[in-house]
Amino acid sequence: MRSLPQIIWLLLLGSQLIAQNPHGTQLKVDCRSCHTPDSWEIAPDWWQKPPSPAASVPRFNHSVNTDFELEGRHQKIDCRACHETLVFAVVGQQCIDCHIDLHQQTLGTDCRRCHDANDWLIDDITALHQDNGFPLLGNHLLAECTDCHHSESYLKFERIGNLCVDCHLQEFQATTSPNHVAAGYSTDCSMCHDMTLPDWRWVAGAANHLFFPLTGGHAINDCTKCHIGGNFTNTPTDCFACHSSEYMATTNPDHEAAGFPTDCSICHTTGPGWAADNFTQHDALYFPIYSGNHKGEWNNCNECHTTAGNFKAFSCIDCHEHNNAGDLADEHDEVGGYSFNSTACYSCHPKGN
Ligand code: HEC
Ligand code: HEC
Ligand code: HEC
Ligand code: HEC
Ligand code: HEC
Ligand code: HEC
Ligand code: HEC
Ligand code: HEC
Ligand code: HEC
Ligand code: HEC
Ligand code: HEC
Ligand code: HEC
Ligand code: HEC
Repeated sequence: MRSLPQIIWLLLLGSQLIAQNPHGTQLKVDCRSCHTPDSWEIAPDWWQKPPSPAASVPRFNHSVNTDFELEGRHQKIDCRACHETLVFAVVGQQCIDCHIDLHQQTLGTDCRRCHDANDWLIDDITALHQDNGFPLLGNHLLAECTDCHHSESYLKFERIGNLCVDCHLQEFQATTSPNHVAAGYSTDCSMCHDMTLPDWRWVAGAANHLFFPLTGGHAINDCTKCHIGGNFTNTPTDCFACHSSEYMATTNPDHEAAGFPTDCSICHTTGPGWAADNFTQHDALYFPIYSGNHKGEWNNCNECHTTAGNFKAFSCIDCHEHNNAGDLADEHDEVGGYSFNSTACYSCHPKGN
């Protein structure tokens, strides 16, 4: 049995419905999903209250019955705040349709990229910069937002650019020691500097010194040993320019007396100790040891140069022994002028063949 008010209400519905409906003709939802017989007004907390067990129609649920889920703070606000006219279908769906773009078009119109309906705070500024290809590291992490985003209003984020020089051009132009502009340095500061080091210190390690690889004995931290007085320009690359005194002081072998070329790299690498570990010229100058029959047959220079401190002296017969079987003698049966000493061997076999 229906109560009298209910019956009256149902009758009213039939007759007054069209006249009274402020929601537009497209509304597909039953009036009873939202209204009760008591009044057309709806108390704001009604939506949160449990539905009456007597209700004949299920209560309207925005998240289920429309394509716009009410999330976060949107769940707590009055229907009219969004549906001013009460014609529910006439409503914007994009954040920017209802919210003022405080960023003044500097961040685009897709607010969802950074915001949701809970609040306007951005939790992960770090990730935001990472996504922009500019991870905030070192000195940059310590800087204020406004140090980089200079706009008058804090919320205006005009494009700055990700390149070091986009922000550090003034410092670049003001350098004196060394004067970067005069030296023609690249404006890619990261070639030589690290944003995680303070005070524009030189990037640690030798890896960035691409102009002249700092390998072996050159892997030193005291830049002024090569860049005298902190002058980074016109540093010579020629070995002799920096190592002439060592060359002149050599005794074993005496380079000057032997007429060695002053391009040390012909015989030396930068490996510490001046071992002649690149002495391939030995073959052409003296005796083939990196090619020919003796290639791979010796381990140390002193197997031939058996007199310590004297490369002029050498021995063949420490290897080519005058043994009991008399092999060597046999080989030279027919050879006039044969004698068993190294100088003789060398004079008849200057190329070891
Ligand atoms: C999806 C929910 C919903 C449905 C369905 C619905 N209404 Fe409403 N109606 C509202 C809300 C919300 C208000 C505003 C209530 C308030 O401000 O307290 C309202 C207000 C009204 C008002 C008062 C208008 C005014 O200016 O204050 C009338 C009349 C009304 N509705 C009629 C109807 C009729 C008739 C139907 C069915 C054809 C209907 N409504 C269906 C939600 C609904
Ligand atoms: C934060 C803003 C917001 C609030 C608050 C809000 N709505 Fe909506 N509503 C929307 C948007 C946006 C749409 C459009 C969805 C679509 O186009 O499918 C919509 C769609 C609807 C529709 C479907 C309209 C149609 O014909 O497609 C109804 C009905 C509706 N809302 C009723 C309500 C009622 C009732 C309340 C209060 C309980 C409410 N809305 C609160 C934003 C809101
Ligand atoms: C149909 C209109 C409408 C749409 C669309 C809409 N909002 Fe809202 N939103 C409102 C209204 C109205 C309020 C309550 C009044 C206010 O705080 O501005 C609100 C409140 C908020 C709040 C709470 C503000 C506060 O100060 O607590 C946030 C956050 C928010 N909206 C974010 C969003 C985001 C993000 C989107 C897009 C995903 C969005 N809104 C889409 C109308 C809308
Ligand atoms: C690229 C990310 C990004 C986008 C896109 C974005 N915002 Fe923001 N928004 C921010 C940041 C960052 C803040 C500062 C929040 C903070 O300090 O936690 C902010 C703050 C806000 C605030 C709060 C301001 C205050 O302090 O009262 C509002 C309102 C806002 N944004 C609206 C929007 C609207 C509307 C859109 C879409 C047109 C939008 N935002 C798009 C990043 C974004
Ligand atoms: C050291 C410089 C620096 C600092 C400090 C900095 N940013 Fe940025 N920010 C950038 C750069 C570079 C971008 C990349 C976009 C560009 O070229 O402008 C960027 C981009 C953004 C964007 C736009 C992201 C997008 O997707 O459109 C927002 C928003 C932003 N920063 C907010 C902040 C906030 C808030 C802070 C302080 C908490 C901050 N930034 C601190 C350099 C910085
Ligand atoms: C979006 C602007 C921006 C970009 C791009 C940027 N920086 Fe910075 N940088 C800053 C700000 C702001 C500071 C902190 C304030 C200051 O010391 O100038 C800073 C500080 C530094 C410092 C510390 C300076 C000091 O005096 O201690 C170094 C080093 C540095 N940045 C290197 C770099 C390098 C390398 C790059 C490129 C990979 C780069 N920066 C790109 C804005 C930027
Ligand atoms: C080719 C390498 C190289 C490049 C590229 C380079 N620098 Fe330098 N920079 C140096 C060296 C070397 C020093 C001196 C370091 C030292 O004394 O420890 C220096 C020192 C500095 C100093 C402090 C000295 C002074 O006179 O103020 C600043 C500031 C500086 N650089 C800024 C920059 C900026 C900004 C960029 C990019 C736009 C940049 N540098 C690019 C090599 C370079
Ligand atoms: C073993 C010697 C040596 C050491 C040590 C050395 N450099 Fe160099 N550096 C050179 C030479 C040689 C050049 C010139 C390369 C060329 O012109 O091709 C050079 C070039 C440079 C340049 C480029 C100058 C220009 O005008 O293009 C910079 C900057 C530089 N060095 C910085 C440093 C810093 C900083 C250190 C200390 C960490 C250092 N160097 C240590 C030998 C050295
Ligand atoms: C034709 C080859 C050759 C050239 C060119 C050469 N060296 Fe040497 N150097 C040697 C040989 C061989 C040794 C002895 C290596 C050993 O003891 O293992 C040597 C040893 C040295 C030694 C250590 C021995 C001593 O007497 O102090 C120094 C220092 C040295 N060289 C400096 C230089 C310098 C500097 C240059 C270039 C300006 C240079 N060398 C060019 C072949 C050469
Ligand atoms: C701009 C100056 C400069 C140039 C050019 C230069 N060097 Fe050096 N070299 C040095 C300095 C400085 C040291 C470190 C010496 C010290 O610690 O006293 C060094 C060390 C060495 C050492 C290690 C010496 C030892 O005692 O262990 C070798 C080997 C060497 N250099 C070879 C070379 C060769 C080969 C070349 C040419 C390809 C060359 N250098 C070019 C400055 C230079
Ligand atoms: C298989 C034998 C053999 C080996 C191994 C050998 N040498 Fe020699 N070397 C000779 C001969 C033979 C000569 C020529 C001697 C002459 O003309 O007085 C010579 C000449 C030299 C000279 C010139 C001496 C001078 O002042 O005229 C130098 C320097 C030298 N060798 C260095 C080396 C070094 C360094 C090594 C090791 C990397 C080496 N040799 C390995 C056989 C050898
Ligand atoms: C470190 C030991 C060693 C020293 C020192 C040495 N040789 Fe040899 N020599 C050999 C060996 C091992 C062979 C054999 C290579 C083979 O079987 O092809 C050889 C082969 C030869 C051959 C024969 C090549 C052939 O046609 O079969 C001659 C000639 C020769 N050496 C001359 C000399 C002379 C001259 C000297 C001194 C300047 C010298 N050797 C110093 C190890 C040495
Ligand atoms: C007067 C010149 C002369 C002297 C000195 C000399 N040889 Fe010979 N050697 C020859 C001749 C010629 C041959 C034979 C070449 C042939 O049969 O192809 C020969 C052959 C050899 C062979 C064998 C080559 C092979 O093809 O099997 C070796 C090894 C050899 N000599 C090493 C030495 C040694 C080590 C010395 C020093 C002790 C030495 N020779 C002294 C001229 C000489």
